Amino acid sequence: MQFTVAIDGPAAAGKGTIARGLAETFGFAHLDTGLLYRAVGRRMLDGTPPEIAAATLRLRDIARPDLRTPEVSDASSQVAAIAEVRNALVHFQRDFAGRDGGAVLDGRDIGTVICPDAHVKLFVSATPEVRAYRRWLELTDAGHEISEADVLADVLARDKRDSEREDAPLKPAADAVMFDTSRMTIDEALEQAASLVRTQLEARR
Ligand code: DC
Repeated sequence: MQFTVAIDGPAAAGKGTIARGLAETFGFAHLDTGLLYRAVGRRMLDGTPPEIAAATLRLRDIARPDLRTPEVSDASSQVAAIAEVRNALVHFQRDFAGRDGGAVLDGRDIGTVICPDAHVKLFVSATPEVRAYRRWLELTDAGHEISEADVLADVLARDKRDSEREDAPLKPAADAVMFDTSRMTIDEALEQAASLVRTQLEARR
């Protein structure tokens, strides 16, 4: 059975948590597509031109433990604005989405460009302050020393770059269900998302 769930939204809105939760609940495979851009950004910082890094990306590149630093976040958003980089990554993402048994992909352009025919599309957002606070907690938990104000500035800069780029900008698909997680607990967000998936799965039986 092919069944695709597309989850898009800005940084730290809760996409990853919802995507992982849905994958676990329904036994779907999960791809965090931000990791592809992070891996390309990481390799750019190490000296490889981003177009080459994207064309030769290997699975082990996205398993690197150093992809979540603020430096890599910024680099990933820069390489994500390069059309050749995006084009080189399309095939891998569509193959993943079409796999048997169901797939959840989270990113910025899944419902609009990568999987316009996804069975469920969610656009997950939260206020910039809430997102910056969540990301700051994650970073300080992981041992990074950074102020909340600096994280907010990074989040706003990335939002701007991701939404204003010409190729596949961050925006909700016309048929996406909008999800504001600012005041939701993780359990509430997951329950609502799971109920949308359940409805679509039942409609296909
Ligand atoms: O989801 P994330 O924060 O790990 O993503 C890192 C960067 O990658 C983000 O700033 C924009 C880019 N990205 C993208 O352009 N398209 C995607 N489908 C996923 C991520």
